[in-house]
Amino acid sequence: MIDYIVYKTHTGFTESYAKMLSKQTGIPAISSDEAKKSLKSSSNIIFMGWIRAGQIRGLKRFRKNQNLKCVCGVGMTAPDKSLDERLVEQNKLENHPFFYLQGGFDLDKLDGLYKIIMEAAVKAINKETDDDDKNNEALQTMENGCNYVSMDKLTPIIKWVNANK
Ligand SMILES: Cc1cc2nc3c(=O)[nH]c(=O)nc-3n(C[C@H](O)[C@H](O)[C@H](O)COP(=O)(O)O)c2cc1C
Repeated sequence: MIDYIVYKTHTGFTESYAKMLSKQTGIPAISSDEAKKSLKSSSNIIFMGWIRAGQIRGLKRFRKNQNLKCVCGVGMTAPDKSLDERLVEQNKLENHPFFYLQGGFDLDKLDGLYKIIMEAAVKAINKETDDDDKNNEALQTMENGCNYVSMDKLTPIIKWVNANK
């Protein structure tokens, strides 16, 4: 029985997924800040966090303090099996059900330092990229943003929730 969906978001994609999952399953979704204040250590949770350099943000605290039943990582990369394996290894999730969700990217919503870092990265990639290759996908994604959030991506997680009620 899952008591809460706890999410940590930076630009809102993870929050969108958490709220969609909450609507579909009836499990309340709360932000990690809210959870830090009010969640009991006995609570069973699904944790959803945005990915920074391969790390699922906010996971450590909830792994330690709550009954962590399932983990979702939200990044901008297209899903594939080797990415899942890498994320499981990097975040030590071998003993947890893990789901990767493709979120999106929004340069304008990034906080100060992240925005500076990512703008510098875009500039550096642009400088190193030939004019012919300027419309490569990664560069376009970072410059123009993207949003891959959709309900159908939650299907495997909803199945897992229904099987673990
Ligand atoms: C500094 C930084 C590092 C990132 N590293 C990764 C990464 O390693 N893998 C990935 O798929 N996405 C990465 N992203 C993209 C975010 O995970 C993606 O935009 C995610 O959807 C953000 O979720 P949020 O809107 O809930 O914060 C990175 C973004 C930033 C700003």
